[in-house]
Amino acid sequence: MRVLVITGAGVSAESGIPTFRGKDGYWRNLDPAKLATPEAFARDPELVWEWYRERRQRICNAQPNAAHAAIAKLARHADEFLLVTQNVDDLHARAGLPKEKMVQIHGDIFVTRCSRCSFSDAGRGGSPEPPTDRAVLQRGRLRSIAPTSENDVDLPRCPECDALMRPGVVWFGEQLDSRKVEIVENFLRRGSCDLVFVVGTTAVFGYIIDWAVQAAGRKGQLIEVNLEETPVSQFATQLVRGPAAIALPRIVDELIN
Ligand code: APR
Repeated sequence: MRVLVITGAGVSAESGIPTFRGKDGYWRNLDPAKLATPEAFARDPELVWEWYRERRQRICNAQPNAAHAAIAKLARHADEFLLVTQNVDDLHARAGLPKEKMVQIHGDIFVTRCSRCSFSDAGRGGSPEPPTDRAVLQRGRLRSIAPTSENDVDLPRCPECDALMRPGVVWFGEQLDSRKVEIVENFLRRGSCDLVFVVGTTAVFGYIIDWAVQAAGRKGQLIEVNLEETPVSQFATQLVRGPAAIALPRIVDELIN
């Protein structure tokens, strides 16, 4: 059995992580679609970092739910498996899904990287505690330099080029990491899938729909698990309208037993 699973914020909703476009997605009355941009970071890096620090904290305090566990279980039973998640949290990994079976296509909220050069603290290992500035500075061997403006006081700076460090996520209007795209495309190139799940995403990005449709090919099942209709729904062979943490364990148990 060859399986592709694509997930979005809805899969972590039942772990208490707000979705982006849901009613809880707003932060201090600010629209995430406007905060998660290079423009917002250029305008007010302090504010953007504060949002990310709060999100890191919330994720650290959250636990994977039954949907994450069901996906990890499916991965153990599939002959070939890939998860493409748009989520920057680590709940799939904490549910036991091995890193080599997953691509975080929109990055990893626990990575801190330079906003100008290629310096990054990725691969640091260890627990993903939300870095205080001090933790970021120590772990990523970053150093603090004299702030260039009042607002920059506590912000981490790059040890290589002194530019501001930023969260290692893909913001609106930015390119995907080509190495990650390649992993997905190589998986798709090796053959179509028997099963494709699209779980908890509004699928606003064309590549999400394209990958799902391409993976299912002519014979594969394309199963959408979502509370609502999305642009993927029209291509699905099965629509499951319910919370992922209830629907997915049932589907996976039926498949495996
Ligand atoms: N079970 C299943 N689906 C759910 C649940 C749930 N418990 N709760 C919400 N959903 C669905 C919603 O109906 C919606 O379609 O999850 C989806 C969440 O959508 P978004 O908030 O738009 O999240 P996502 O699709 O992951 O966003 C994609 O956009 O904001 C950027 O880069 C960010 O990765 C993110 C991307």
